Amino acid sequence: MGIKKVGVVGCGFMGAGIVQVCAQSGYEVVVVEINERILSKGMATIEYYLGRDVEKGRLSQKDKDSTRGRIKGSTTAKDLNDRDLVIEAIPEDMELKKRVFVELDKICPRYTILCSNTSCLSVTELAQGTSRPNRVVGTHFLSPVPPSKLLEIVKTDSTSEETLETVRKFGRSLGKEILVAKDTPGFIFNYLLLALTGAAVKLLEDGVASAEDIDKSMTLGLGHPIGPLALADFNGLDVGYMVSCAMYERSKDPYLAPSIIMKKLVDSGHLGRKTGEGFYRYKKQE
Ligand SMILES: NC(=O)c1ccc[n+]([C@@H]2O[C@H](COP(=O)([O-])OP(=O)(O)OC[C@H]3O[C@@H](n4cnc5c(N)ncnc54)[C@H](O)[C@@H]3O)[C@@H](O)[C@H]2O)c1
Repeated sequence: MGIKKVGVVGCGFMGAGIVQVCAQSGYEVVVVEINERILSKGMATIEYYLGRDVEKGRLSQKDKDSTRGRIKGSTTAKDLNDRDLVIEAIPEDMELKKRVFVELDKICPRYTILCSNTSCLSVTELAQGTSRPNRVVGTHFLSPVPPSKLLEIVKTDSTSEETLETVRKFGRSLGKEILVAKDTPGFIFNYLLLALTGAAVKLLEDGVASAEDIDKSMTLGLGHPIGPLALADFNGLDVGYMVSCAMYERSKDPYLAPSIIMKKLVDSGHLGRKTGEGFYRYKKQE
């Protein structure tokens, strides 16, 4: 089936980026938030990034206006009742996501494909709460969504080939390179990232080397654009800690065990760049 109308649930950090990319690629998008205030904030973020693309000459004013014209905000999930594909981008909380999937299953037509942007939770569990597990997949967009080159599709044992192909085609139409992974903790990207970050944190915890030297071993040694500790600070240590707890809970894999030093930093409010301190200290506005 061809996708024309897209729905997005949640217009936070990831949802806003997903809405922007879908609308810029020609899809009509309805985005749903829990209230008008948060919806306006999400819309303002989209407006800001589209405006910045115009300023930098990456987008014409005409294309910006037509992109903006394809986006409709709503605070009512019922407005998703004519969508071909809906992407859930609400916080990484299984109970919250399950409730949304049950609601979407009731609201959306039989043909609608339901997708989750989960970083590491079980897509199978989300699919089982619906009457259409064959039309449920993970669509794990990476941040920041617009410039990111990758889209990781997570298939469960129930995902049909037709759904997989439709979502693959949809992802390519957004300009993304597609990875397909089975529904395992962290899929491909977060499994590798968390294992690397966990190893880097362990070296720091054991006093083997400084944060700077650990990061340099990856930036200069392997050509990574940023070291694992600096990246954890950038993404937010609270987010990283939560994802590592959820992945460990699901896998019991010792490589993914949450680190004590990260917990200490999170408990003391040092969440990385956004609070000015994490594995590194940051000057204001850095
Ligand atoms: N932040 C990242 O770098 C990143 C990267 C990849 C994937 N993810 C995943 O994407 C998802 C969203 O993460 P985020 O960072 O955008 O979170 P966020 O907190 O920035 O945004 C979530 C939004 O969902 C809204 N929301 C909550 N319940 C809702 C409901 N019932 N209906 C409509 N809206 C609702 C919230 O108001 C909030 O604005 C999570 O599953 C996360 O693991 C995040």
